[in-house]
Order: sequence, then C-alpha cells, then structure tokens
Amino acid sequence: MRIAILDESKNDEPRVAATPETIKKLSALGASFAIEKGAGLASGLADADFEAAGATIAKNAAEALKEADVVLAVRRPKGELAGKMKQGALLLAAMDPYGNAEAIEPFAKAGVAAFSMELMPRITRAQVMDILSSQANLAGYRAVLDAAAVYGRAFPMMMTAAGTVPAARVFIMGAGVAGLQAIATARRLGAVVTATDVRPAAKEQVESLGAKFVAVEDEEFKQAETAAGYAKPMSAEYQAKQAELVAGHIAKQDIVITTALIPGRPAPKLVTKAMVESMKMGSVVVDLAIERGGNCELSVADKITDHNGVKIIASTNTAGKLAQTASSLFAKNLFAFLETMIDKGSKTLKVNWEDELVKATLLSKDGALVHPIFAPKA
Ligand code: NAI
Repeated sequence: MRIAILDESKNDEPRVAATPETIKKLSALGASFAIEKGAGLASGLADADFEAAGATIAKNAAEALKEADVVLAVRRPKGELAGKMKQGALLLAAMDPYGNAEAIEPFAKAGVAAFSMELMPRITRAQVMDILSSQANLAGYRAVLDAAAVYGRAFPMMMTAAGTVPAARVFIMGAGVAGLQAIATARRLGAVVTATDVRPAAKEQVESLGAKFVAVEDEEFKQAETAAGYAKPMSAEYQAKQAELVAGHIAKQDIVITTALIPGRPAPKLVTKAMVESMKMGSVVVDLAIERGGNCELSVADKITDHNGVKIIASTNTAGKLAQTASSLFAKNLFAFLETMIDKGSKTLKVNWEDELVKATLLSKDGALVHPIFAPKA
C-alpha cells in the first residue's frame, strides 16, 4: 500500500497532509510513503524528518503519485494531476465539492475514488476524522490574535498609574466550533465578550464560556438546527429582525469576529456596510467566512480593508497561519479515516463501501460521480 503526499505550498497551502507521526502509524499498518520534495517545509517539517519516519522523497508530484494506492492531501489537487493518479486510487482531501462538480470531474474520469473530508458525518465515531472541527478551532483562536495584532488598543482592562484602560468589547457572530474558541480566546485576553447564533444549543455553550448571548429567540430560532447539528438558512424576516438587533450592538463593539456558515450555501451576510460605518475608528472586523463569500459586505479575500478607519481582515486560510498545529491535526484526521479502510490482518487496503462514513464522503468511484448531492441527476 503506497501513499502519496503532495507539496501544496506551491498552491499557497502551507499545510501538509502527513506528519512523521502519521507516517509511522500508517507504516505499521503496511503503508509506504512517497512524499513530494519540500511538502512539509511550510509546516516546519523538513524532507529529512519524513525520511527519518521511513518515507521516501519524490522529486515532483507525478513521481509521488506514480504507483500510489492512496493520495492524502489538504486541498483538492489540481485537475491536471488526476491523470497522474492510478485508476482506483483513493484520494482523501478537503475536496470543496459544493458548486465545484466540474473540478471533481477529472478525478471521477481518472477512476479515482475521491473522498470529501468536509462531508464527514458529525457522529461520535467520526469526531476524530472531523477536519472542519480541527481546523475551525484553530481559526477561531487565530482570528482573535489577528484582531489583537491590528487593534490599536489593549484587550484587558488595565489600571495603571497613568490611568485606566478599558477592556475591549468583542462580539462573535456564529458560535460553532470557531466561534466558541474565539470566545474562549478573547475572554482569556481579558475582553468583554458577547456572541450570537441562530441555533438555540449555542446559547448555553456561549454562556458557559462566560460570554453574553445576544439573539432573536423566536419560534424560527427554536427550529434552526438541522439533525446534522448545522444551522438552516434563515428566512428573510428572521434576517431582518436579526440585523436590527445586532446593528445597535455592533456600533458599540471594538472587535467583531464572524464565523457564520451554512453547509452548501454562501455565507450569510450579517455585517453590512452601514454597520461597519457605525463602528468607532480603530475597530476591527475579522471575517472567517470569507472562503464561502464572507459574512461582511466589505470583506475582500486575503486583504485587510480599511474602511473609514475600521479594519476588515478576511484571510481565506486562517487555520493555515498555524500551519504546524493545523497540519498535525489534519494529518491525524486523515489517518483516522484511512485506518478504517485498512485490513489489519493482511495489512492491505480493504474499503467497506457500505460503511456510513464512506458513503457520506465518497464523491467519485469507477469513473463516475456517485455522491447523491453532486452526481448528475438522472
Ligand atoms: P458552521 O461552521 O457550519 O457554522 C458556524 C456557526 O454559524 C454555527 O454555529 C451556525 O449555527 C452559525 N450560523 C449560521 N447562520 C447564522 C446566522 N445567520 N447568524 C448567526 N450565526 C449563524 O458550524 P460548526 O462550527 O461546524 O458547528 C455546528 C455545530 O456542530 C456546533 O454546535 C458544534 O458544536 C457541532 N459539532 C458537533 C460535532 C460532533 O461530532 N458531534 C463535531 C463538530 C461540531
């Protein structure tokens, strides 16, 4: 069983899909590794670290992919690499399938079995494989640090001989994995934290972290969580009520961190231009939803926009700014899923195509798109 790892830093992705730790664990299960030269450098891992773990270094992607039975990647590889993969090879990555069926097509055509790690069901058994959680947690933490770094004032209240410095007011919009970590991080820095969400379950979680919950808690709010634990898209009426409530609140905030997402849809626009204009000069907005279009109307991907003295940070890869930690957790998520596809006795690949995790994440197989959401409708 040969596993290929690509150098994704060429495509502005600093994370890498394997670490010496996961290489050793998979090698014990019968795997050998071909790692593209330089694949780990942006995550603080030298080729020599991989070699010490038993991997061989390939001079380029094509060489790494040749003969590989499994390809592990952080992001969907470039389409042109599909033809370099072996027919029947397994590809495990964040395939970003929503709205991107065409980009998945080359992998289907090449006979690759592509698994989209984002579609992992949120059940107990799969928690260890959940890349959305492992990466969102880091992004939530880093978002607060990014805000603090450009904010011209302090976060904690400080009583000094020269005068008292007030605590920063931080508002977190979307209290899922990233939002809850942002709340905890901002609290640790001494900020006064409030948060909003549309799922009722979020209220208790926000309060248990010592933040105040601010939301329109009507009948629609009580029904806003899907069976999968995600938010539903809210009605226009709800969104109008929500905007009215948060508009007055945002005007009093120093930092706003937005993390609101709805699977398979563009991110809801929660922070309007007028809301940004109501904020004090020197305030900061961090938009973690930018990869899906952003929660703030003024966000520009991978730029810090200055709008009348309010800075809007919208990095498309906030978890990637903590590449070492992010890679180590991402690699463990991939390892945990791949481990379920290996027969421990014979130390060979043995995918159970009926497994619910396989069915939920498998995009393509035997030359066709097979996922119920993305396959062409008959
Ligand atoms: P997400 O990344 O899809 O969305 C982030 C947050 O934005 C969510 O809390 C969502 O409710 C909120 N949101 C959506 N529309 C909004 C709006 N208009 N206004 C305000 N907020 C809005 O969600 P994430 O972070 O992946 O987690 C969703 C839930 O799943 C959380 O409760 C989390 O604890 C739970 N979860 C469960 C796991 C399990 O294995 N059981 C694993 C990971 C998360």
